[in-house]
Amino acid sequence: MNALLLAGGLGTRLRPLTEHMPKPMALVANRPWLEHLVIQLKDQGIRDFVMAVKHYPEQIRNYFGDGGKWGVSIRYAVEPTLRGTAGAIKNAEPLLDDRFLVVNADIVHEIDLLRLLEYHVQHGGKVTIGLTEVDDPTQYGVVEQDGSGRILRFVEKPRLEEAPSRRINAGIYLMEKDVLRHIPDHREVSIERETFPLLIERNVGVYGKVVTGYWMDMGTKERYRRIHWDLLNRTCRLPIPGQESGSGIWVGEDCRIGPGVLLVPPVLIGNRVDIGERSIVGPFAVIGDDCTIGRYVRCSETIMWDRCKVNDAIHLNNCIFGYGLELGSKQILHEAVMNRMEAMQA
Ligand code: GTP
Repeated sequence: MNALLLAGGLGTRLRPLTEHMPKPMALVANRPWLEHLVIQLKDQGIRDFVMAVKHYPEQIRNYFGDGGKWGVSIRYAVEPTLRGTAGAIKNAEPLLDDRFLVVNADIVHEIDLLRLLEYHVQHGGKVTIGLTEVDDPTQYGVVEQDGSGRILRFVEKPRLEEAPSRRINAGIYLMEKDVLRHIPDHREVSIERETFPLLIERNVGVYGKVVTGYWMDMGTKERYRRIHWDLLNRTCRLPIPGQESGSGIWVGEDCRIGPGVLLVPPVLIGNRVDIGERSIVGPFAVIGDDCTIGRYVRCSETIMWDRCKVNDAIHLNNCIFGYGLELGSKQILHEAVMNRMEAMQA
């Protein structure tokens, strides 16, 4: 069984961070999310990956190559035009095994593949959709199932009192390859809006199983931040790179922490980070590799990717900065989300 990772979307809701990069390459705890995902699936026995790519595909290809560095095989299905979540699967058809796993590559989740697979084999249908339960289902496609777990229908954005359940599509599927004949070729097709309703109507056997453990999609800036705070406070148990040097303080290699610096947990500092005297970093700060933070800086609830430079006496709260951003002195920034291009224009 191989795994198809859907990584070709435009990531519009996470702009400007995703303006010039694929969303699944956004850093999560200082490492591209897609890399966490490959490692996690490898740990569960997947060795053969296909990445469905379209938006800046060369960034993913350059980073992962043939996967050898991670001890896996990675091949690429590049879409000539954006094909949507089902069209991307159809486009990858020649590279897929008879049974395969599909994962939306922007979902942060501690996948328990074995349980999903056991259920899939046991019900004998063609598709198993991983489901997650949400408090407020009114913004999602909600499933109605029978006692065996078979999905009877999706109800799009129901009013609370009309929602048949609180279970929604978690963006993780097991599929038998012969269902791909139900997906039209060479055009954009949405798996949620078109393919699943069609497969249910044609009675091919679409089942749903609630996936337990942490689940969050990184599609919006709020949720992208939330994932980091959940990682730092260990609500999400995915591994955090770096050495935990005190409770809730992770510091990478070769850092220089100046005199009088206060690291307020939870905080994650990458490798080769330089922090000037009397700065206060945290709580809830993630500082990427090779960042330089000046003196008297205050930085809380902020995520900074690699190579950022923050000059003296800047106050940052609730910000997200892309690679290599440089900030002048004595600014106060609250809720700023910027990449380098934007900062140069400002
Ligand atoms: P927004 O523009 O913010 O909605 O993001 P998105 O379209 O990138 O993500 P969405 O949540 O709609 O898609 C879920 C997953 O499917 C993400 O990992 C996307 O990268 C991926 N995806 C969405 N559309 C396509 C597509 O046309 N081709 C491929 N290969 N992947 C896609």
